[in-house]
Amino acid sequence: ALAIGGGVTLVYVNAAVSTVGSAEFSNELAIPPLAPSRLRPDGAREFELEMRSGRTEFRPGQATETWGFNGSYLGPTLRARRGERVAVTVRNQLPEASSVHWHGMHLPAAMDGGPHQMVQAGGAWSPQWTVDQPAATLWYHPHPHGVTEKHVQRGLAGMFLLDDEVSESLPLPRNYGVDDLPVIVQDVKFRGAEFDSSHAMFRDTGFLGDRTMVNGTLTPYREVGDELIRLRLLNASTARIYTFGFADERQFSLIGTDGGLMERPLALDRVQLSPGERAEIVVRMRAGERTVLRGNKLDAGLGFWNQRFAGGDDTFDILQLRAAETLRPAPELPSVLTRASTPDGSDSVRERRFDINLAGINGKPMAMDRIDLAVTRGTAETWIVHNNDGMPHNFHIHDVQFRVLARNDGPPPAELTGPKDTVFLPPNATVTLAMRFDGPADPNSPYMYHCHLLWHEDQGMMGQFVVVDAGQSPGTPPPMPPGH
Ligand code: C2O
Ligand code: CU
Repeated sequence: ALAIGGGVTLVYVNAAVSTVGSAEFSNELAIPPLAPSRLRPDGAREFELEMRSGRTEFRPGQATETWGFNGSYLGPTLRARRGERVAVTVRNQLPEASSVHWHGMHLPAAMDGGPHQMVQAGGAWSPQWTVDQPAATLWYHPHPHGVTEKHVQRGLAGMFLLDDEVSESLPLPRNYGVDDLPVIVQDVKFRGAEFDSSHAMFRDTGFLGDRTMVNGTLTPYREVGDELIRLRLLNASTARIYTFGFADERQFSLIGTDGGLMERPLALDRVQLSPGERAEIVVRMRAGERTVLRGNKLDAGLGFWNQRFAGGDDTFDILQLRAAETLRPAPELPSVLTRASTPDGSDSVRERRFDINLAGINGKPMAMDRIDLAVTRGTAETWIVHNNDGMPHNFHIHDVQFRVLARNDGPPPAELTGPKDTVFLPPNATVTLAMRFDGPADPNSPYMYHCHLLWHEDQGMMGQFVVVDAGQSPGTPPPMPPGH
């Protein structure tokens, strides 16, 4: 309908996408299987992940070329408990090198799976670490410098759930796949049988699709049999920002953010997630009803052009929940969930400023052999991040969970008060973040901080930091492995 001669692309990017009313909800939502693990003699819980290429039938009779972990698209859900030693064997059966990063995980930099821990085609990598952070919904995905958007968009992503004493003792829905559902949201576009991953003209945000999938399922529905349903929302899209809510505008409770539980449940009717962010929400169902999780138009101060070109005018019907005629009763949500685990800024020893735009961070594009800053092990810092660009970005820091102390000149909105590792930055916004670096010092192994709009990351909106002991100076990152 939009094809008018040579103006096709221009007209196309100006049209808002909407799947409202057109999603048939004809496919049962797939639930990624829990990854099997075995206990090694040394007590470590061992998982195996194999990166593979394959074909996936998202639509009947049409097989799409995709990549996945242990299957053709996405990957199994890894699950471990605080205090456990985790060992993962990652094998790469793809035709090219990649890496696997544990997004949100607090772990030694050499195990982080960033662009310095490449796994060559045909090769393997075996990181291990001890889980030492609160229960949370984390995820894993490739991080090869310059091609992360492509690798994630082809299907390499999965969830990594952490449990602890607090999460296990609270009366929260936690029956995986039953009343506790992973909701991995991605936007996609097809051209014939294949994914169309091209970027539309004028869209400096990177890839934006024209429909969404959850857990690799198009127009999904899920039958539920409990009064309270916990949705672990993960925005695994490469660039798209969503404001999630329900089509009938019902309220839900936000119980967790990127790095774990909130101090108390927060009643909301919208929660905004930029790429990489997570939200755990609990929604109350009435017997026999249906409701639709919707990705609404953004109301984020994007301005006219970004509203258009960054997809802020688009609306997607994402997932339909169908309640059974009789529902298992669920206890009320507790009024207190956990105590704050992130620093409040009062003991920060240093304040740093980051100006981010498409040219890089503080004016410099990412360089693999340049360490941008060193932080002292055991100290807290305050980072002030300013988007001085005309387009939306976000900011993700590896290894830590931070607290958002301020947004622009005021306190953060309530939905940003839980532990975070990624935060949205609309044009001209500033966020003030407090974090503590208490991992092991390793002056030669950097962690990354970057924009999680993956094409921006690929273009160099990324920097590197190392954790050093007091008085130690940063070293040099290892040379790139051959073949990268
Ligand atoms: Cu989810 Cu540095 O990435
Ligand atoms: Cu960006």
